[in-house]
Amino acid sequence: MSEMTAGQTSRRSFLTNTGRVAGASALAGIALPPVHAASTDTIQVALVGCGGRGTGAAINALSVTNGPTKLTAMADVVPAKLNSSYDKLKSQFAGQVDVPPERRFLGFEAFKQAMDALKPGDVVILGTPPAFRWVQFSYAIEKGLHTFMEKPVTVDGPTTLRMLKLAEQADRKNLKCAVGLMVRHCRARQELLKRIQDGQIGDIVAMRAYRMGQGGGTAGPRPAGVSELTYQIQRFHAFLWASGGVFSDYYIHQIDECSWMKGAWPVEAHALGGRQYRGDSLDQNFDTYSVQYVYPDGTRLFFDGRNMKGCRDEFASYAHGSKGSAVISTLSHTPGMTRIYKGQKMPTVMSRTDLPLPADPNLVWAFPQPEKSPYQWEWDDLTDAIRQNKPYNEVKRGAEASLVASMGRMAAHTGRIVTFEQMLNCPHEFAPDVDKLTMDGPAPLKMGPDGKYPVPEPGIKIDREY
Ligand SMILES: NC(=O)c1ccc[n+]([C@@H]2O[C@H](COP(=O)([O-])OP(=O)(O)OC[C@H]3O[C@@H](n4cnc5c(N)ncnc54)[C@H](O)[C@@H]3O)[C@@H](O)[C@H]2O)c1
Repeated sequence: MSEMTAGQTSRRSFLTNTGRVAGASALAGIALPPVHAASTDTIQVALVGCGGRGTGAAINALSVTNGPTKLTAMADVVPAKLNSSYDKLKSQFAGQVDVPPERRFLGFEAFKQAMDALKPGDVVILGTPPAFRWVQFSYAIEKGLHTFMEKPVTVDGPTTLRMLKLAEQADRKNLKCAVGLMVRHCRARQELLKRIQDGQIGDIVAMRAYRMGQGGGTAGPRPAGVSELTYQIQRFHAFLWASGGVFSDYYIHQIDECSWMKGAWPVEAHALGGRQYRGDSLDQNFDTYSVQYVYPDGTRLFFDGRNMKGCRDEFASYAHGSKGSAVISTLSHTPGMTRIYKGQKMPTVMSRTDLPLPADPNLVWAFPQPEKSPYQWEWDDLTDAIRQNKPYNEVKRGAEASLVASMGRMAAHTGRIVTFEQMLNCPHEFAPDVDKLTMDGPAPLKMGPDGKYPVPEPGIKIDREY
């Protein structure tokens, strides 16, 4: 990813050098087989995982303006999720939604049936919980499909190694693969990056990011009549095997955007965290996390996460340089509202009521508003790459971002310093048989005799998180 990280161990170079831009394919420059749709061809889309984000991604897929797209198959494990997604999409995009009942599939094999309904060069959306990413991506590669997959793309070391291999396989088939770290497609952040690289804030000496909100990631007692597996999947933020927990699922974006601005992945993390108010929740998360990520040149990213009612909220990322400072995120992921200030003082923007941005004598530059959503940009960029047959594979970068998130999470959960290499080579795979799950089979996480699921115990469980 970064010139700064080049020259370290060969594995590290392998992991860092090709993530520079979305199109940094290992096959760039080599004649590629034509697996793309001409600008007038209709790209067919299948939606696997018809929840909130999957449905949102389908809306973005059907909203691109660089050529026709059509939704032709859908898959989920929960009928109500598929039905409500279908109704919503059909009501908004009647002419572009052609998913008769025989192309609506249910169950753990449904993703295969939905992909079988496409032809090579079409696109599948993976909007399922992260645990299923490598399983479903493997099949998409086998079928010659381009993929849009949501983040995180891995939850632990073994799944990261697997995903890195799959990324290479996808490159060998010239498949275009997008990862839902949509901030990378935000034009305001791209402009900020250029300005940082031009030296407008000097050298980055520290970064700070905050994702502190009123709750999330809990799982109250299992309702009667719901299997343990369905319970865990439907509350996937609560269980580390399914999502990497709130740490991976919520915090990855800001850890990724800060690392992007810095031009490197952190080499190690140490972190604090604890559980105070879980009530009757059976989840495995902490309420608070505070992480210090260390970059190769010694620069730190200080990241605070909290899910706690009644406390001060903040959702923002900042970079501090030797000449000035920059705002990478304000109030949420979008709009970015990126800006640069002289010196280190910035006006406080804590809620939408503080908008429009206050005038400030130290303001040097701000990206003009309004901004187009990065959730739409990421689809415009993907379909453009498909139609123009440009190299486009974000999976390696997405796997690295997911690993860096896991590294901070494991540091908090174990109470130890965790390095990039240690996380990558940590043998604890949370759900090794996730590709063999059946609707009436057991869940990957077993409840203890006390009626609770195992949780991290820093200082006691130090080689694995639970
Ligand atoms: N980029 C972003 O800003 C953003 C925002 C929200 C969510 N996400 C990501 O999107 C993914 C989904 O999140 P969500 O909020 O839409 O969750 P959700 O629960 O609303 O949707 C997940 C859907 O997947 C289905 N599903 C679960 N396992 C399945 C399987 N094996 N096969 C087929 N379907 C299955 C569920 O029934 C559900 O309908 C997560 O990885 C999450 O991190 C990204």
